[in-house]
Amino acid sequence: MELGLEGKTVLVTGGSKGIGRATALALVAEGASVFACARGQEDLDALEADAKSAGPGRVATLSADLCDGAGIERVVAAAVEAYGRVDVLINNAGSARPGVFLDLADQDWMDDWQLKFFGYVRMARAVLPQMERQGGGVVVNVIGTGGLRPMAGYMIGGAANAALNHFTKALADEGSTRGVRVVGINPGPILTERLKRFLDTFSPDAGSPEEALRNMTPLGRVGEPEEVASLLLFLASERAAFIHGANITIDGGANPGLMG
Ligand SMILES: NC(=O)c1ccc[n+]([C@@H]2O[C@H](COP(=O)([O-])OP(=O)(O)OC[C@H]3O[C@@H](n4cnc5c(N)ncnc54)[C@H](OP(=O)(O)O)[C@@H]3O)[C@@H](O)[C@H]2O)c1
Repeated sequence: MELGLEGKTVLVTGGSKGIGRATALALVAEGASVFACARGQEDLDALEADAKSAGPGRVATLSADLCDGAGIERVVAAAVEAYGRVDVLINNAGSARPGVFLDLADQDWMDDWQLKFFGYVRMARAVLPQMERQGGGVVVNVIGTGGLRPMAGYMIGGAANAALNHFTKALADEGSTRGVRVVGINPGPILTERLKRFLDTFSPDAGSPEEALRNMTPLGRVGEPEEVASLLLFLASERAAFIHGANITIDGGANPGLMG
């Protein structure tokens, strides 16, 4: 299927590792111009180096912390300076700690929401006027099934994800009048550094790491970042032009509920 992403300019937050990195490289393979940001320069340099052999597209990067509005404004300005427009924003940089409810302080909640909730909100607010000026665009929020499946041990991230499911639909309503299509995805367990970190802290009694990973979904395996990237590329493309205000689950069947 031809996705028509050649020449499109795509801003991928958290593009240096995991889902973001796989997405950036898949976009390069399709001929897109990717602007990736994250905090660590070394991983961004590695992405730029690997992108050279990934396909006809290109990657530019900027090191920035998306926990504050100034970092976000800097990233958007640099992306526009690099390519002149932002056709697609993939809001992906996020992380929230698991933990025991009574041990988590106000500051823990506020720190993690700065990135996983407000980072997405601020980035969308910074990009929307640019998309409207250029005649349209697409915002894709990478959220997480924790928002659909409340659990005592993952409240900060789960609540942020629930809020982002709402935000995605509300932003789609806003985007409708501005030529901006908005979608979200809810990944289940995907094999990235983040999931490996979770396994160490969150499931100490789950047997061997391999067993824990097998038990995470009915398919007997966790997802690969490249599988999420494939969904993100489709949603970013004109092939998905009628998908707007939807949150789509990619979790190997792990969420048994009707929602997602
Ligand atoms: N993996 C899963 O199982 C899973 C499941 C559900 C949802 N998700 C969601 O999918 C998204 C990607 O997850 P992942 O597993 O690919 O994560 P990851 O491997 O930990 O990568 C996270 C990316 O975000 C960047 N980042 C982290 N904090 C940042 C900050 N303050 N400012 C700017 N960039 C920052 C990281 O680079 P630096 O550290 O260098 O900044 C990295 O590039 C997240 O929003 C996560 O919540 C993942």
